[in-house]
Amino acid sequence: MSGSRRHTRRLAADEPGIAEAARLIRAGGLVALPTETVYGLGADAGNDRAVASIFAAKGRPRFNPLIVHLPDLEAAKTLAHFDSRAERLADAFWPGPLTLVLRRKASVRLSLLVSAGLDTVALRVPAQPAARALLRAAECPIAAPSANRSGRVSPTRAEHVMADLDGLVDAVLDDGPCAIGLESTVVDLSTDTAALLRPGGLAAEAVEALIGPLALPESDPDAPRSPGMLSRHYAPSIPLRLNAAAPLPGEAFIGFGPHDHHQAASLSPSGDLGEAAARLFDLLHRLDDPAYSSIAVMPIPETGLGRAINDRLRRAARGRDAEAEENGEPAKNRGREN
Ligand code: TXA
Ligand code: MG
Repeated sequence: MSGSRRHTRRLAADEPGIAEAARLIRAGGLVALPTETVYGLGADAGNDRAVASIFAAKGRPRFNPLIVHLPDLEAAKTLAHFDSRAERLADAFWPGPLTLVLRRKASVRLSLLVSAGLDTVALRVPAQPAARALLRAAECPIAAPSANRSGRVSPTRAEHVMADLDGLVDAVLDDGPCAIGLESTVVDLSTDTAALLRPGGLAAEAVEALIGPLALPESDPDAPRSPGMLSRHYAPSIPLRLNAAAPLPGEAFIGFGPHDHHQAASLSPSGDLGEAAARLFDLLHRLDDPAYSSIAVMPIPETGLGRAINDRLRRAARGRDAEAEENGEPAKNRGREN
């Protein structure tokens, strides 16, 4: 599946740029927009053809459900049923990097494709000022997955979007690097058992402090509760080696903590997980260079945002194996994963 060729414009995130982006969205176009997590590939969530063109541009092999972005909680409540758990989380963390999967309301102006046939919908109110201004100006909910081609690393700068999707989207609204740099935390509240579908930019512990323990989704990779949990995801084109103490010859070495001369870069010289999250995808983009044999990454602590960082790194390391298996090749890199 490949999207139709378009002339991609780069719009500044000022008043005229945001107005033009809103006009394009209302007209059924595709606009990559900045959020505090990652850049999204946005379209009018009520327009079936526009939503379908998101999948075409991403080259997604199947229709995964998409996150619907709204300007505020009031707008979100018109689309889905909020119980007391959802109210509490939305009050505490919206606008922000939290996505809630809730039961859809019947007969709302929302494409069925955003739910991929499920009776639930994933909702988020982003905090990024340009995203909020665009949501208000467009006057429609905006469906937006991360603005990368399927299986590639998520974009945290307009340049990443252009490298992946130039000619496939109508515009990129450029507001510089994303403050958080990791996708939103996805929590499923559509049943009585609240579940963490994807660790992300909001620490799971913060959610659990308000609504109690979160179940983890079933780990059967063929029947994921959230298709975003598919193992093949976020892959750079060269191999990735995790929990590396030191680089092997030819490797690009990503450190965590004080930068030393063995490292191509440090995720955070001060050992701050928030800074590491914000830099992760940008470093993977920058070091995804065939001049290196692979990318090696130092161990990252498995607490708070470290959980989401390690989740993305494990998927990225697995990505090439999963692809090879789909093509009937043996999984060569498996032994290097730990
Ligand atoms: O930070 C983010 O969440 C970014 C920005 C653009 O908002 N968006 C993003 O979208 O990461 P995407 O499509 O790459 O990931 C959406 C995640 C996937 O894991 C998807 O399976 C899950 O949300 N999801 C969406 N709707 C769902 C639903 N109805 N039920 C279960 N999971 C759902
Ligand atoms: Mg994505």
